[in-house]
Amino acid sequence: MSSQEMVTLTDRESVRQWLRENREARRSVGFVPTMGALHAGHIHLVSQSLAQTDRTVVSIFVNPAQFAPGEDFDRYPRLPDEDREMLRQAGCHALFYPDMTAIYPPGFQTKVMVEPLGSELCGRERPGHFQGVATVVAVLLNLVRADKAFFGLKDFQQFVIIRRLVQDLGMDVDIVGVPTVRENDGLAMSSRNRYLTGEDRRRATGIHAALSAARIAFESGEREAGRLEAIARRILIEAGIHRIQYISVRAAATLMPVKTVLADGVILAAVKVGDTRLIDNMLLIAPG
Ligand code: PAF
Repeated sequence: MSSQEMVTLTDRESVRQWLRENREARRSVGFVPTMGALHAGHIHLVSQSLAQTDRTVVSIFVNPAQFAPGEDFDRYPRLPDEDREMLRQAGCHALFYPDMTAIYPPGFQTKVMVEPLGSELCGRERPGHFQGVATVVAVLLNLVRADKAFFGLKDFQQFVIIRRLVQDLGMDVDIVGVPTVRENDGLAMSSRNRYLTGEDRRRATGIHAALSAARIAFESGEREAGRLEAIARRILIEAGIHRIQYISVRAAATLMPVKTVLADGVILAAVKVGDTRLIDNMLLIAPG
């Protein structure tokens, strides 16, 4: 692992200055927006950015606008020292660690909505969530005028929404989707996994098992969305996961509902294991 000086930027002007210096030196910039509580999945995003651009900046900002009242904003893990050390070890060049007013200056009134996509799937379960995500990502991408921005495909709906937003608003940044990093037993890495204890942690592996079973059925020729969803649902229930918010097969490019998977699809799930809400997905790639 490499380690080096990593600069910390806390306000809008210091980000602009850092960008100016890199532009003048003709260096490309990669950006990894996060909410902190970093794990190997985030570090994988950083390593992709380091491989594809000259300078990498990571932001850590727990965005209140994407949490509904009663969700886990207050208890969302905040580990600034550990995060900073992980980024430094990974070879990250800059940390953007803004306070609230650097993102939402006094008098802030703007809201970004990507509809109807933002009201489907997770948006149905978490009203206002994607408006909060789209708004903060628009602010961040506008501040950090990166050449490429890296997002994990675990949050597949978020990725599709951000790609749409960037296209719709004509933003000059490549949105790069990075495959999900998993624990050895298949559980998708997530900052919220640290809420899982004992039996719930074991039960959570049922999500990956369920999505994998649907993918195996798809690879064996099953194309009916309803049947693929039923296969995954059965495995979830067998694993003791009964609070299934959704399990849905969609078109991978647009997230539109499909009855039959003709082009590339994706199966997405959101469940509650104990008090913890977990999401995951798996691509259903039609054989070439
Ligand atoms: O995926 C996340 O961590 C957040 O939703 C993001 C993109 C950093 C916006 O707050």
